[in-house]
Amino acid sequence: MTRHYLDHAATTWPKPPGVVEAVVEYQSRCGAPASRGLYQSGLEANQIVLETRRAIRDLFRIPSVDDIAFCSNGTQALNEAIFGIAYGTNRKPLHVVTTSIEHNSVLRPLELAAARGWLEWNAVECSSSGMVDPDDVIQAIQPHTRVLIISHVSNVTGTVQKLHDLSRIAKSRDLIFVVDASQSAGYLPVDVRELGIDILATAGHKGLCGMLGTGVLYVRSELQNQMAPMMIGGTGESSDRIDGDFPWQARVESGNQNVPALASLLAGLKWKTRTAAAPFETWNEQILATIRGCENLRLVGLDSIRTTDRLPVFSLVAKRPNNLLQTPQEMAMFMDSSNRLECRAGFHCAGMIHNSLGTREQGGTLRLSLGCTTTQEDVDAACQGLVMLDQMMSS
Ligand SMILES: Cc1ncc(COP(=O)(O)O)c(C=O)c1O
Repeated sequence: MTRHYLDHAATTWPKPPGVVEAVVEYQSRCGAPASRGLYQSGLEANQIVLETRRAIRDLFRIPSVDDIAFCSNGTQALNEAIFGIAYGTNRKPLHVVTTSIEHNSVLRPLELAAARGWLEWNAVECSSSGMVDPDDVIQAIQPHTRVLIISHVSNVTGTVQKLHDLSRIAKSRDLIFVVDASQSAGYLPVDVRELGIDILATAGHKGLCGMLGTGVLYVRSELQNQMAPMMIGGTGESSDRIDGDFPWQARVESGNQNVPALASLLAGLKWKTRTAAAPFETWNEQILATIRGCENLRLVGLDSIRTTDRLPVFSLVAKRPNNLLQTPQEMAMFMDSSNRLECRAGFHCAGMIHNSLGTREQGGTLRLSLGCTTTQEDVDAACQGLVMLDQMMSS
């Protein structure tokens, strides 16, 4: 049976052509550390890192390569952002407004920083479609609010948030505007200048198509000296000093860079620039129509095909409590065992959204997510699997 991977919201698989090859090529032919040796292969490693930085700079219209720090995943980038502000900023007292759609890599650092007394925070509830209402954000802002953090796209419902409106709110109140683009990067345009984004964090292994082990953090240059990076160690420069001020980027990137993974990220970004975007709206239409035809399945989130409203992340629950195959876990096991459809079940590392969506009781949702290497065969198989699941649920 052919494997149909439907967990692109977690990480892209398969990787596009050239991505795995870039790792093998770097590791077998170069293999040297970056920012360390002045020998030929060391300079080659430096070049890979620089080219990857330039590709990221161009993609997000970031002013300078010096404003980008590579991290090991989206979680590290978000932790660097949140703890960096919480511990470093002179904006005290510090209140953060975020939303219930956030991933635990936002919610848990906020909770931990609050427990340490570094900040206070609250989360604006999204609607049952996964949308955050900008007016609710305005209501949540307090006199000591300094930061607004929002995920561009929910990893549970695929709902695209109104970043332009939220940016205007942040600017008009002098808030640091932090955007988690882990689900949107590589799929939707993200222009940090146009959107007034002060801090952008994203995984590099989802829509950007790098290997696992890649993450990106952008911090606007004027803010960098207000951040307290979590890391310090070998930076490859001024090694005779154990104290002193190192630039923000060097600190976040302390230790040896994951050059093979960055080589893969560069290959993924290059592939994206020469490859037509996947037909997400056609696939949204096909999958949403299939779900609508299922008696026993309910879509959680927006029933819209437009990628300006939603990306192809579909969360489902059983319509009736007495359905056979009721829990998301049972449904996911059926999809895998009957058709090798690899879907996710549960809360999807998003600790709050299930209260807003009303999906906590049933243990979260069954999630199918498509990405840039999804094929029409995968989508057809997904639809066929959903129809079979629906029939099984009524039998
Ligand atoms: C919205 C969102 N933010 C952050 C993350 C964390 O990214 P990573 O898995 O690379 O740590 C994810 C991963 O699923 C995500 O979906």
